Amino acid sequence: MRRHLSSAALVLLAAGCNSPAADGDQSPAASAAPAVPAALATFERYDAAAVPGGPGPGKRYALGTAASTSVIARWNTDVGAQGTELPPGKGSVGEGSALYTSLCASCHGVGGVGGIAPNPPLVGRDSSAEGFRFARDPQLTKTIGNYWPYATTLFDYIKRAMPLATPGSLTDSQVYALTAYLLAANQVIADTTTLDADALRAVRMPYRDRFVRDDRTGGPGVR
Ligand code: HEC
Repeated sequence: MRRHLSSAALVLLAAGCNSPAADGDQSPAASAAPAVPAALATFERYDAAAVPGGPGPGKRYALGTAASTSVIARWNTDVGAQGTELPPGKGSVGEGSALYTSLCASCHGVGGVGGIAPNPPLVGRDSSAEGFRFARDPQLTKTIGNYWPYATTLFDYIKRAMPLATPGSLTDSQVYALTAYLLAANQVIADTTTLDADALRAVRMPYRDRFVRDDRTGGPGVR
């Protein structure tokens, strides 16, 4: 893009030099009007079909390349409820506490109590919310401890989405440590716990049974 702009600017300069000095009606820019199509012609000559991985017949744009298996593998890191995809690595509550202070507390508050909107609280088992009274009182604060059905998906979420400005920057062991810290702060596991894949799969969330699988199969009965 920069190259095209500067060559267009050069043509504009040259056209300005050629303009008769006494031409009061035409500014140099107006007399240089053909320079823009000349610059665009470079773009139009671009042979999309010649680009490796470029578009096939009938496609207009030569943007991007085909994703390789290794690129797809790098992005394909989601961890489901059963936790079968959890990677190797491990982290303790203590390690997670230190990471939380340096990487997360600025938004989620010291100890996870929440920050200025939209940064949600992550910790806080408000006693009035115990018993899963959310339908009756939508104002009750939902946290990891009182609302998440699975611990495995906490790992998944942190790994893919946090910290907000640099998602994907944490190692798997750091994510285990942060998951351990947040689960301990929500009184789901003990402060002395170290989590790895097996230990995380074994964690049962307090309100797990309040969630039911949506087994509707479609059709007119589903609204
Ligand atoms: C720049 C601010 C910021 C930082 C730093 C940050 N977060 Fe977040 N976090 C957010 C926001 C905003 C949301 C809500 C996102 C949404 O709902 O789409 C969120 C959501 C979350 C949630 C989901 C909460 C829920 O119950 O839905 C978790 C878990 C979480 N963050 C963990 C972390 C951890 C762990 C770190 C540190 C490694 C971190 N965050 C750092 C802003 C931040």
